[in-house]
Amino acid sequence: MPYTDLSLKLCGKTNLPVLPSHIDLDLTNICNQDCFYCNSFNFRQKNLVQSTGKEYYKLIEQLYNWRKHTPYSAGTVRNINFTGGGEPTVHKDYHKIIEKAIDCNFLVSLITNGSKLHKLIDYLPQNKIKSIAWIGIDIDAGNKQTYEKIRRSLTKESLFDQVKDNIKRAVDKGYVCDVKALLMEENTSEKELYSLFNFAKDVQARKLHIRPIVDQFTNKLFHVSDELKMLISKISSELDVSYNLPQYRQQPRKYTKCHQMFLYPILAANGEISLCCEGRGQKRFVLGNWKKEDIRDLWFGHRHMEIYNAIDTTLCPPCKPNKVNNLIQDDINKVDNLERIIL
Ligand SMILES: C[S@@+](CC[C@H](N)C(=O)[O-])C[C@H]1O[C@@H](n2cnc3c(N)ncnc32)[C@H](O)[C@@H]1O
Ligand code: SF4
Ligand code: SF4
Repeated sequence: MPYTDLSLKLCGKTNLPVLPSHIDLDLTNICNQDCFYCNSFNFRQKNLVQSTGKEYYKLIEQLYNWRKHTPYSAGTVRNINFTGGGEPTVHKDYHKIIEKAIDCNFLVSLITNGSKLHKLIDYLPQNKIKSIAWIGIDIDAGNKQTYEKIRRSLTKESLFDQVKDNIKRAVDKGYVCDVKALLMEENTSEKELYSLFNFAKDVQARKLHIRPIVDQFTNKLFHVSDELKMLISKISSELDVSYNLPQYRQQPRKYTKCHQMFLYPILAANGEISLCCEGRGQKRFVLGNWKKEDIRDLWFGHRHMEIYNAIDTTLCPPCKPNKVNNLIQDDINKVDNLERIIL
């Protein structure tokens, strides 16, 4: 598991610093939609910027050469996930930046609203598609009316038809595409759920990836009742469309320190290196600036430890790294677990 090296380090079994295994790279803070729930809205408004292709190429080279830069270390950067900030595909060079990451042997994933996916599809050579693990396309609704109610395209016409067409074209070309939706009041009636599953079927997505919305004002997760779960499961079998409804954000926190801060940095489009995927723009999570500094020199340095030690996770909103944080805490609580590395 990518976190085992970190568990060894945090349990004092090794002194080697651990390189992050996964990086979220924001290509822009600009967006062509205005989803009512967007958790990066405030950050985006205050930092309506993007970095240049040249800056991203330099950064990707640094990530590629990290082991050479820090030879006495454990782990390696394996995945780069392109996301936002804003909408990654509105960056004019996004397709070339993704290609650069593939050429540097990273396994790539892309989280997008799909509106400009055609640029990548038309550009990337067929033999490089396999280096894209998957593309997650957020649609939230399977019909234009509800789609616009939730996602509020900032373009003259709704982006719905373009997105649907782009997903079909991507699937035809051999990209692994998951259609994504946040569960909320607006899309959880029987009619809306049928519409979502039918959309996923029409575009021949691998699966529908659904998870509860986090309310930006209360930090509460939308409640996915047993009744709703049963309805989702029924529609999935009836239409023969697979789905994934991860529950890890809901699991109770066993940790008070956020261990994943050494595994999963977020490199924002304004240059900030954030150690929390939920905290773009919050200075208390900022390790430095990847445009002005070399992230490799900051990793496991004084400031990194300072942030790790200062953050009390009992005050945190539900978050994606909850699962890995719990797993690492299990190792810390029961160090014998780490014998799993001995053959
Ligand atoms: C900020 S978006 C950027 C990428 C792209 N623009 C998109 O919408 O897919 C990144 C991810 O954050 C998720 N997200 C945004 N606001 C959220 C919220 N309030 N609760 C849960 N997930 C949220 C989106 O669904 C999306 O998968
Ligand atoms: S498309 Fe993505 S970044 Fe843009 S408003 Fe919607 S969730 Fe936020
Ligand atoms: S919300 Fe808290 S626990 Fe989750 S990633 Fe951020 S700092 Fe870590």
